[in-house]
Amino acid sequence: MDGAKQMGIRNVSSICSLTQLDDHDLSRLLEKPRLTTNIERQRSFDERSLSELPTLLVRGSYDNFDTLHSPAVRSGIDTPASWDGNTFDPHPIFAEAWEALRRSLVYFRGQPVGTVAAYDHASEEVLNYDQVFVRDFVPSALAFLMNGEPEVVKNFLLKTLQLQGWEKKIDRFKLGEGVMPASFKVLHDPVRKLDMIVADFGESAIGRVAPVDSGFWWIILLRAYTKSTGDLSLAERPECQKGIKLILMLCLAEGFDTFPTLLCADGCSMIDRRMDVYGYPIEIQALFYMALRCALMMLKHDGEGKDCIERIEKRLHALSYHMRSYFWLDFQQLNDIYRYKTEEYSHTAVNKFNVIPDSIPDWIFDFMPMRGGYFIGNVSPARMDFRWFCLGNCVAILSSLATPEQSMAIMDLIEARWDELVGEMPLKIAYPAIESHEWRIVTGCDPKNTRWSYHNGGSWPVLLWLLTAACIKTGRPQIARQAIDLAETRLLKDGWPEYYDGKLGRFIGKQARKYQTWSIAGYLVAKMMLEDPSHLGMISLEEDKQRKTLIKRSSSWNC
Ligand code: GLC
Repeated sequence: MDGAKQMGIRNVSSICSLTQLDDHDLSRLLEKPRLTTNIERQRSFDERSLSELPTLLVRGSYDNFDTLHSPAVRSGIDTPASWDGNTFDPHPIFAEAWEALRRSLVYFRGQPVGTVAAYDHASEEVLNYDQVFVRDFVPSALAFLMNGEPEVVKNFLLKTLQLQGWEKKIDRFKLGEGVMPASFKVLHDPVRKLDMIVADFGESAIGRVAPVDSGFWWIILLRAYTKSTGDLSLAERPECQKGIKLILMLCLAEGFDTFPTLLCADGCSMIDRRMDVYGYPIEIQALFYMALRCALMMLKHDGEGKDCIERIEKRLHALSYHMRSYFWLDFQQLNDIYRYKTEEYSHTAVNKFNVIPDSIPDWIFDFMPMRGGYFIGNVSPARMDFRWFCLGNCVAILSSLATPEQSMAIMDLIEARWDELVGEMPLKIAYPAIESHEWRIVTGCDPKNTRWSYHNGGSWPVLLWLLTAACIKTGRPQIARQAIDLAETRLLKDGWPEYYDGKLGRFIGKQARKYQTWSIAGYLVAKMMLEDPSHLGMISLEEDKQRKTLIKRSSSWNC
């Protein structure tokens, strides 16, 4: 008997032959006998449910409803319990992780719609960790898709789409129509026996930060759902087509920009506090690129769709050229910047952004190996943020924003700088940490972001799934295995912390939540993907052949 089935884990082939999702090379590479997709027809989702809410709740602040809160989380069913050890031989914590993931499920009117950020009873301060975060749900969603349970993913996609339709305001300022929430919370009114939803688009978030990444993750997840289930009908629904277009209209509108990259405020993604990522952060640029490519695969070629498709194609062309040329850093490039002349006027300038070589930080000269390279954190006039950001670089590999050579170089760098980037707990969110006076200026004296903690060089187990996916894509699974082995020695024992502290990531984070859902789901996804690499197809895009030739031509024109 299939061991995985016995555990209650269903197998679904993640490869499907959708002509629109042309990842042919990868599919062929990873092809395995197609298993019968065990996907039940979805119950139609209650579209009216939100309109029944009192307007107060729809736009209200959470504070008013704390008393109404009742556990929206309930223990899950179908938890893998037994294991015969015949096939996939997971570590004992695999089954525990599944149980914990199911415990984090959030239900709205009886339907699972997401997972809470953390299910940590011991923590005195709940803050917003009892909410479903869009970005946090992505690894949960992938785990459920890989396990042949797409319902919760579909419900989540539709529910967040409804939330996008709300009128969003911060004080008296109306936000763009396409903005997706950072998070939402299900409230249960025991008197009226009603479940209600409140969403946060940044108006309650600490620092009032904008969740720029939410919309991109939503598009990427919609494509993952489509790819995994073969169910094209969801993405084809008019409301989904509209949702995609609204998200992209926020980014593709013409303005004063001189670069194709997306200008963002601090705190706009996973790093949702002031950490000097404002400007053109790699995390957002890589997600933007991936979302554009996913949208291209899903948008219908009708009137409005066609216009959007044209704009996407133009932007992709410019964005990939800009990123591959100006964000890329390897030994050679560093040496070139080190020798840059400054104050060059006119289109013939080599040092286009007028970067002053004296602004290159000392650490980079030791950190940069002879073999290897990466996309740096940020590029804007006279400013290059040389820090390494894990998510952006992994997403660059998965979306093929990185060329095959660049992808290999990123993996070379991870291997060469293992102690710095992986240490004793995968993986560093950013490297290196900002310290002393710089920390005061850059973070505004943030006590949560002290050196080697949280977003400031902390180690986040959730990043394990992104590393694993990147490793599989580049044909280096042994790197992922090493990282997973490290995580397995501690994650369960430590209660699935949100992050670890210290130069080597040895200490459980100062203010880390326990039972952080994306630490749990990230581990599960990494484990399942390594076991069955065909899952990679739902989160990876092959190199765009057309773009490849275009890029070659444009770079030669530029020389
Ligand atoms: C913290 C993290 C953010 C995450 C949220 C919920 O705010 O910085 O990335 O989405 O917690 O886990």
